[in-house]
Amino acid sequence: MGADALKGKTIVITGANSGIGLVAAASLAGMGGHIVLACRRQEAAEQAMREIRQSCANASLEFVPLDLASLDSVRSAAQQINMRHDRIDVLINNAGIANVRREQSEDGFEMTFAVNHLGPFLLTNLLLPSLKLGRGRIINVASGAHKAGKMHWQDLQLQKRYFVITAYAQSKLANILFTRALAKRCAGMSIHVNCLHPGGVATNIWPDGNWFQRCFSALLKRFLITPEEGARTTIWLASGEAGGRATGKYFVRCRERAPSSAASDDAAAEKLWALSEQLTGLTSR
Ligand SMILES: NC(=O)c1ccc[n+]([C@@H]2O[C@H](COP(=O)([O-])OP(=O)(O)OC[C@H]3O[C@@H](n4cnc5c(N)ncnc54)[C@H](OP(=O)(O)O)[C@@H]3O)[C@@H](O)[C@H]2O)c1
Repeated sequence: MGADALKGKTIVITGANSGIGLVAAASLAGMGGHIVLACRRQEAAEQAMREIRQSCANASLEFVPLDLASLDSVRSAAQQINMRHDRIDVLINNAGIANVRREQSEDGFEMTFAVNHLGPFLLTNLLLPSLKLGRGRIINVASGAHKAGKMHWQDLQLQKRYFVITAYAQSKLANILFTRALAKRCAGMSIHVNCLHPGGVATNIWPDGNWFQRCFSALLKRFLITPEEGARTTIWLASGEAGGRATGKYFVRCRERAPSSAASDDAAAEKLWALSEQLTGLTSR
């Protein structure tokens, strides 16, 4: 793609200061897009902007503070973005975590579910009017780990039994169910909604708390792909033709793939949507 391919386009990327998000931000900025880096740490976002400008001196970049673990922060980020931009062309829900220990968000939700699903759910819904004006694209960075997951409807916040893979896989399954339900709602608005698995990528998401985790992650990273390779499908959906054609689909290595049967369950997608509306307070607006 040429340096002007995305000129005039506004692209919001969550978690754009690290890993896959940083590579995608740099690449899309290099195509002329205006990038809104929605990140929780200002210093990290500023460092990322310096790095992007090293390879693309005239990159058009902007920072918006966003902590997906706080619904107040999500509302305030959405308000800032909507105030500064009439139109959004692409929203990339990229930020994500995999917490080894169970933690709670300030709103009282299990942290992985809050950051990976509830925060992006609310942010997306609050940005929908601007995305509609841009006939935009929404890209949810899910994971192949969704195949190991199920929705724990009786204990969604995993209060009874917590394990990092259980929490992460449930949240990534939620990303795909959200994509499905949202694509249906966006069909009449010319907004295209898709999700993807980036591959196993050597980034900061892998646990590095204690000595054992650091050794495990270091060993594992030798077998993982680079963030540059991992960002390819995100960049392709954001900038290529397919991302403006397909909707409600799941992609791996720039190819449409069938997700698990649990992720193709429309009743579950609707149940999650209704619950997420309640939990984020979207219904009471
Ligand atoms: N790496 C893989 O193998 C892999 C595989 C499948 C799917 N994915 C998905 O790819 C996406 C990107 O992850 P990555 O691998 O690039 O990991 P990463 O390098 O750790 O990047 C994650 C980003 O999310 C941000 N983030 C974390 N908590 C946040 C919060 N509360 N509010 C706002 N932003 C927050 C991080 O910010 P800080 O720098 O401030 O922590 C960071 O910018 C995630 O959704 C992940 O689930 C990754």
